[in-house]
Amino acid sequence: MALKVLGILGSPHPFGGSGQLLRCALEGAQREGAETKLLSVYDGEIKPCQGCIQDEEPNCRFPCIFDDYGKELLIEINQADVLLIGTPVYWYAPSGLLKNLIDRMTCLENMVAYGEPSYMEGKIVGAITVGADAGLTLAGGYLLTVLNAMGAIVPPWAHAYSRQANKAIFDDRAVMDAINVGLLAAGLASRLKGREGRLSYLDDHGLLEEIRQKILAQKEVFETQNGKTPLSKSGS
Ligand SMILES: Cc1cc2nc3c(=O)[nH]c(=O)nc-3n(C[C@H](O)[C@H](O)[C@H](O)COP(=O)(O)O)c2cc1C
Repeated sequence: MALKVLGILGSPHPFGGSGQLLRCALEGAQREGAETKLLSVYDGEIKPCQGCIQDEEPNCRFPCIFDDYGKELLIEINQADVLLIGTPVYWYAPSGLLKNLIDRMTCLENMVAYGEPSYMEGKIVGAITVGADAGLTLAGGYLLTVLNAMGAIVPPWAHAYSRQANKAIFDDRAVMDAINVGLLAAGLASRLKGREGRLSYLDDHGLLEEIRQKILAQKEVFETQNGKTPLSKSGS
């Protein structure tokens, strides 16, 4: 069965910088034979966690007490082998809506209170952070630390970042790093399933350019349909 790789986007801009790099990571995962899906935290309501873990009779168990879009995302996360999160840096941190989802992911981890392993245990994770200034590594480090604290596994080269904001797709280093985030996360997941899988950084300018042009073409279609002027393909 193909690996399931889920990308969660924490940006209001489907083709903003973090969306661009997250798509590069999913392309990388596809090169390892994975099935990929991209979902955004902005596509429905994610109620904030109400901390029911503290209740006398604990209610905090998968798939959460709330019946909203957040629950749909939690179910998708539970079904994935690999979770790749891409977020804009908002004040040195992931976006607020993404943080709401992370808080709601407590129900996956808290299955330990019911005698089961954390439902995040053994999933492979990667992070993409995009900003215009500072806090990129803080936000990415936060994501990987928290996901690991829930039981997830962090592969080599698991964080890609760019401070080129919505022009991140023209940041060669970040694009190559993002492709590797997907490639190596899927590679590690394959290894854990007893198959072959890549675990070393790939530096391939031809692949970088091919994926960049693919994402730019998707972006152009999206922006034409949504009435925005596409960025020039040369990045100028
Ligand atoms: C509320 C808010 C806070 C921000 N804080 C930061 C920050 O701390 N560091 C930074 O580098 N960029 C910051 N930015 C800039 C965004 O990270 C930047 O515009 C990025 O491209 C957004 O990602 P997106 O294009 O994927 O939506 C902030 C933007 C907003 C709207």
